[in-house]
Amino acid sequence: MKVSPGIFLLAFAAATSALDNGLMRTPPMGWMAWERFRCNVDCENDPKNCISEALFMDMADRLAEDGWRELGYDHVMIDDCWTSMQRDKDGRLQPDPHRFPGGIAKLARYLHERELKLGIYADFGTHTCGGYPGTTLDKIETDAQTFADWKVDFLKFDGCYSSPKEQEKGYPLMSKALNATGRYIGYSCSWPAYQGGLPPNINYTLLGEICNLWRNYDDVQDSWTSVLSIADWFFSNQNQLQPVAGPGHWNDPDMLIIGNFGLSPDQSRSQMALWTIMAAPLIMSNDLRTLTSEARNILQNKAIIAISQDPLGIQGRRLLQEKSRIEVFWRPLTNSASALVFFSRRTDMPYRYQSSLDRLNYTAGLYDVYDVFTGEVLSLPSHTTPFTVSINPSGVVMWYVYPVTHHKLTEGAGRYPNVRRKYRMSSLKHSQPKGEHHFFT
Ligand code: GLA
Repeated sequence: MKVSPGIFLLAFAAATSALDNGLMRTPPMGWMAWERFRCNVDCENDPKNCISEALFMDMADRLAEDGWRELGYDHVMIDDCWTSMQRDKDGRLQPDPHRFPGGIAKLARYLHERELKLGIYADFGTHTCGGYPGTTLDKIETDAQTFADWKVDFLKFDGCYSSPKEQEKGYPLMSKALNATGRYIGYSCSWPAYQGGLPPNINYTLLGEICNLWRNYDDVQDSWTSVLSIADWFFSNQNQLQPVAGPGHWNDPDMLIIGNFGLSPDQSRSQMALWTIMAAPLIMSNDLRTLTSEARNILQNKAIIAISQDPLGIQGRRLLQEKSRIEVFWRPLTNSASALVFFSRRTDMPYRYQSSLDRLNYTAGLYDVYDVFTGEVLSLPSHTTPFTVSINPSGVVMWYVYPVTHHKLTEGAGRYPNVRRKYRMSSLKHSQPKGEHHFFT
């Protein structure tokens, strides 16, 4: 049976309701310290790379000055190891005085002056995963108020050193406490990652009501094995995980490690493409001061970011796993557009994969296809027109697919937004020099 994109949309739209703070209607974007900088507190010997206010100010400068913020990367997120080993005399968390001499409120001001947002980390439990003071049940309201007083914009609430029973109380209570401060604070819950990540252990309906995003699974490490195992877990469990994501409430497969040491250029494109199909937060953990232009180009790819930030906020799915070890992924987008990713698990040579949109469940019509990494545009006169893509080992080809017939039929009728004009597809075809595209502006 052929399923029209409309039917898929309806099925996909049956998602849970979101935490009522109005935040993160599209997957959050930004930078987080953990994967790249871990719990390096040795500021004496490694001042440029230790967890300190200087590191976060450096990253804020880079986001503000190197074009990231305008693309949507607007959060700077502190992770573990920022606090002093003791709470202050009033029982409040306090930053390590040597590494954060100005305090968190001043750091928040520094970011806000640059139109950036500050994220902070706490752990529901006796200690953080790194052994710093945790937030037990009796401290939840104090900590929420402290973060609000400092004008923090986002909280990652980890779950080391607490029991499943305690977590059932603690995660909803923190959500309430954050709301009660009156400050808009995005809320990331690590709860599911500590309870296996899947129903029936996890109640994703409840999570959608209390958290803006949640870590479901293992920590990402700086390796392709890690990225692949995370992607595999999410897509193997897509029937349970895909429907629970939507505007304001997202699955979080963890940080983008593009720009570090573990991924080849092809694997970096694969992480970017697969995370975008998953409607994942695009939160980098890398060194923005030393990024290569290759990594920057992948992370700053406007077409991919536009797909990531599509207002429908529908998480995509794996459509096919071929015997040839090619996999095809799909995400529906606004205006009947969609994204396709062709991914190779092969380890030999670029593979010439043949298919047609018809085979991938597209309905009859004339489609234009934009290759988001090469900028090439391809017209497919019919959904049955065969095409071939050449996919590198552990690499991807990623397409933005747009039905031209729909547009032509309705042009001038005034009932549909003129997407082609919005995305400048026609001008792209006739006047854009290859490789230098302004498809998504
Ligand atoms: C856990 C989290 C990581 C990171 C560390 C910090 O492992 O899953 O993302 O926050 O703790 O200790």
